Amino acid sequence: MKWTTIVVSLGLFAKTALATGQLNGLPVLNGPIPTVGNVYGMKSRVGDFVHPGLWHSHDDLERIRLGVANGEDPWKTAFVNFSTDSFSQASYVMQGPKSIICRGPCSNYTTFTNDVRAAYQNAMMWYITRNQSHWDRSTTILDAWGTNLTSIIGTDTSLLIGLEGDMFANAAEIMRWEGGWVEQGARASGGSGFSNQLYWLFARQSIIIGQANYGMVSIKALLAFSVYLDDVSMYNYAINAYQNDLCAGIYGNYDPQTGQGAETGRDQGHAVSGLGWTALAARIIQSQGTDVYSLGNNLLLTAAEYSAKYNLGYDVPYDPKFYRCEAILINGPWSAPSNISRGLGETSATTQSPGVWDILYYQYVVKRGLNAPWTVKAKQVYDASGGEQHPTGNSQGDQPSWGDLLWAYPGRGQFKNDDNRTIWGGGTIGPNGTGMLNY
Ligand SMILES: *[C@@H]1O[C@H](CO)[C@@H](O)[C@H](O)[C@H]1NC(C)=O
Ligand SMILES: *[C@@H]1O[C@H](CO)[C@@H](O)[C@H](O)[C@H]1NC(C)=O
Ligand SMILES: *[C@@H]1O[C@H](CO)[C@@H](O)[C@H](O)[C@H]1NC(C)=O
Ligand SMILES: *[C@@H]1O[C@H](CO)[C@@H](O)[C@H](O)[C@H]1NC(C)=O
Ligand SMILES: *[C@@H]1O[C@H](CO)[C@@H](O)[C@H](O)[C@H]1NC(C)=O
Ligand SMILES: *[C@@H]1O[C@H](CO)[C@@H](O)[C@H](O)[C@H]1NC(C)=O
Ligand SMILES: *[C@@H]1O[C@H](CO)[C@@H](O)[C@H](O)[C@H]1NC(C)=O
Repeated sequence: MKWTTIVVSLGLFAKTALATGQLNGLPVLNGPIPTVGNVYGMKSRVGDFVHPGLWHSHDDLERIRLGVANGEDPWKTAFVNFSTDSFSQASYVMQGPKSIICRGPCSNYTTFTNDVRAAYQNAMMWYITRNQSHWDRSTTILDAWGTNLTSIIGTDTSLLIGLEGDMFANAAEIMRWEGGWVEQGARASGGSGFSNQLYWLFARQSIIIGQANYGMVSIKALLAFSVYLDDVSMYNYAINAYQNDLCAGIYGNYDPQTGQGAETGRDQGHAVSGLGWTALAARIIQSQGTDVYSLGNNLLLTAAEYSAKYNLGYDVPYDPKFYRCEAILINGPWSAPSNISRGLGETSATTQSPGVWDILYYQYVVKRGLNAPWTVKAKQVYDASGGEQHPTGNSQGDQPSWGDLLWAYPGRGQFKNDDNRTIWGGGTIGPNGTGMLNY
């Protein structure tokens, strides 16, 4: 991703990157998870977690599966491209695992980006088709990287963890709770596989949240990791940051009145990517039974409308006093909206616009019936420029894409998760009606 490779590198991280060669060094660097007070949506005990419960709850997965099975749109049409995509094939050839990958000046992580996408898309393929070969492909990728990757280095470590790491956790959540996958290396004395990697190497590194779009990446990843790991403290820390972190949370990222992005003056790639990451964070929180999409009088939608309008070529009001924390690290603050990477579409001449519109469109316009003319138009332009396909170029890990398949709702409704149809530790459904307990 063009945008995020040049995301600010904190001086702080440059030093720690050198010190993070070994997995065991990381927790010390991150320190304890700060305890938070009473926060909207917080959990009080492990049994409060819903599984699967990252981007997709069980009910969400069923909506997708049944949409495809019953030949209903948009799922049916979206599945045509999805099911023939190279990353959705059981025959996908794994490019890793590697033991050390880097994001930053020494970037060499595309094998992970690709394998993660294949693990996730094969997990979805398995859920939709129940073809065992997709189960095998997804879980062998999870196990291979889960047991071999020991170090993530570079100044943008937390982006790599927050983007690719999040999608990897999403694949694992589906395969574990729906597919009955038990990770390689699982042992009562402490394992050496996927979950250990997720805890020590991924989650612990996202605790230093950072700012603006970069910070929101860590927040959405921490939400995902904490649900996977059933970590109450980490989840509460992340859901608090989403609402109250004045540099990285929703109110730090979007002007509560106009929806202006804190990086609107920087460039449109970052401004628009942040919308997608905020929507993904809210999606995990939704899976856990709490609605933050409506926070701030639907602030995220106001923000989507602002950026969609500007990127469609129209003027927007601009307050030069609303900008991101530490803007000086990236040559800010700015006097006007930036024209850098302005525009929409997957293959516009100068840029590849982040695929964020579907998740916003389905959540606000279709499910809630809200009026959002610019977001609707942005989706139309995006669809006309390619629509359902995997992202290409440097941005493959930024957004999941496939929005008509992944995020669609059939119309207005609450679509609340029914806990009788979801699984939680000790819950009632699962392969044999017992929940996903390890025997
Ligand atoms: C990536 O770069 C780092 C630092 O140079 C190196 O240690 C590591 O082996 C490389 N990994 C891959 C997959 O090339
Ligand atoms: C399952 O997928 C494999 C690989 O794509 C394919 O060869 C096989 O025919 C599929 N099986 C069924 C029952 O569709
Ligand atoms: C590493 O990955 C390979 C697959 O490439 C796998 O066979 C092996 O079990 C993994 N784990 C370890 C500890 O080598
Ligand atoms: C962006 O482009 C518009 C139209 O060409 C121009 O009026 C405006 O000054 C530009 N903004 C910046 C910050 O350069
Ligand atoms: C499917 O992918 C092709 C490009 O390969 C694209 O032109 C088309 O719009 C996509 N279909 C949908 C429904 O988005
Ligand atoms: C869920 O299950 C409980 C008993 O386990 C039952 O009392 C309740 O009515 C069920 N709810 C729904 C919506 O079916
Ligand atoms: C679940 O049921 C299947 C077939 O009914 C059986 O083969 C399998 O061993 C059962 N698994 C567990 C964990 O009981």
